[in-house]
Amino acid sequence: MKVTVVGAGHVGATTAQRLVEGNIADVYLVDIVDGLAAGKALDLAQAAPLVGHGRKIVGGTEYAGAEGSDVVVITAGIARKPGMSRDDLLMTNGKIVTGIVEEIMAVAPDAILIMVTNPLDVTTHIAMEVSGQPRERVMGMAGALDTARFRAFIGMELGCASSDVQAMVLGGHGDSMVPLASSATVGGVPITQLIEPGRLEEIIQRTRDGGAEIVGLLKTGSAFYAPSAGVTEMVGSILRNENKVMPVSVLLQGEYGIEDTFVGVPVKLGAGGVEEIIEVKLSDDENAALRASAEHVRETVAAWERLSK
Ligand code: NAI
Ligand code: 2OP
Repeated sequence: MKVTVVGAGHVGATTAQRLVEGNIADVYLVDIVDGLAAGKALDLAQAAPLVGHGRKIVGGTEYAGAEGSDVVVITAGIARKPGMSRDDLLMTNGKIVTGIVEEIMAVAPDAILIMVTNPLDVTTHIAMEVSGQPRERVMGMAGALDTARFRAFIGMELGCASSDVQAMVLGGHGDSMVPLASSATVGGVPITQLIEPGRLEEIIQRTRDGGAEIVGLLKTGSAFYAPSAGVTEMVGSILRNENKVMPVSVLLQGEYGIEDTFVGVPVKLGAGGVEEIIEVKLSDDENAALRASAEHVRETVAAWERLSK
C-alpha cells in the first residue's frame, strides 16, 4: 500500500511519520520547497531501524513519485496565524490545492483523495471539481479531529480515559461545527447525566474553538499532532477496509436534507472510500445547527467561485 502526502510541513510530516511508524503504508512525501520533503523523508527512513518497521519513505518536489498511490493526502498550503479564521486562507489555499490536484490526477488518477488544507470543506469541494472523481473518493479530514477534541475535553472534565468517551462532531470545520451532546456517552452513560448543562455548553464551545486555542498558544502555526492522528485513522480504515465509522467531510446530495454541499457527517470508511453515509437522528436544535453550518460552507464556496474567476 502506498500513500502520497502532499505538503511536508507540520501536518504532512507528522502524518508521514504516523503512517510509516504505524506500519500502515509506504509513503511518498512531496513539497514545493526544495529539499524539505526529501530531507524529512530521509530522516524518517533513518529512524526505521530504531523504531523497528520496514516501511519505505522517500520525498521530493516532483509529482511523478506519487504514481501508484492508493491514497493521496493533501496538507499543502498556508496555516492560520493568531486572529485569522480558516476562511481567511481561502484564496491562497484554493489556488494551491487546484494546482496540486491537477498534478496528482495526471500521475495517480485512481487514488482516493483526503483533503486537510483549510478551509477544509471548501478545499474538498475544489478537489472534487478539479479531479472529476465521484464523491466516494474525495473527502476531507476534520470531523475525526473535532471529535477527538470533544472526547478529550469530556475525558479531562470527568477525569476518565478519553478513549472511553463516545461522541461525534458534525458540520463544517469552522466556528459553526456541531458537537452532538445528545448522543455522547462515557462507558455507555449519557454525558448529559454526568455534566451539568452550563458546563457542557462551555466544553462544546471549547471544542468549537479548539483549533484557535492551539493557534493562540503556538503563535506561529496551528495544530498538527491530533490532525495527523485524524488523517491516519482515516487512511488506516480505507487501506485495511475496516469500515470504521467516523465523521468525514463528504458531498451531501439530499442526506440530512442538505444538497450539493461538503459537510462533516458520519460515514463508513473502507476500501472504496466513503462506503456509506450514515444518517443519525438529530435533535431539532442539532439539525438546525447542521443546516446553518452547511449554509456557511455554501457561502464560502460561492465566494471562491466568484473571486477565483
Ligand atoms: P505548514 O506551513 O507547516 O505546512 C504546509 C506545507 O505546504 C509547507 O511545507 C509548504 O512548503 C507546503 N506547500 C505550500 N504550497 C505548496 C504547493 N503548491 N505544493 C506543495 N507543497 C506546498 O502548515 P501545516 O500546519 O502543516 O498545515 C497545513 C494546512 O492544513 C493548513 O491549511 C492548515 O490550516 C490545515 N489544517 C487543517 C486541519 C483540519 O482539521 N482539516 C488541521 C490542521 C491543519
Ligand atoms: C485546527 O482545527 C487548524 O483547522 C486546524 O486545528
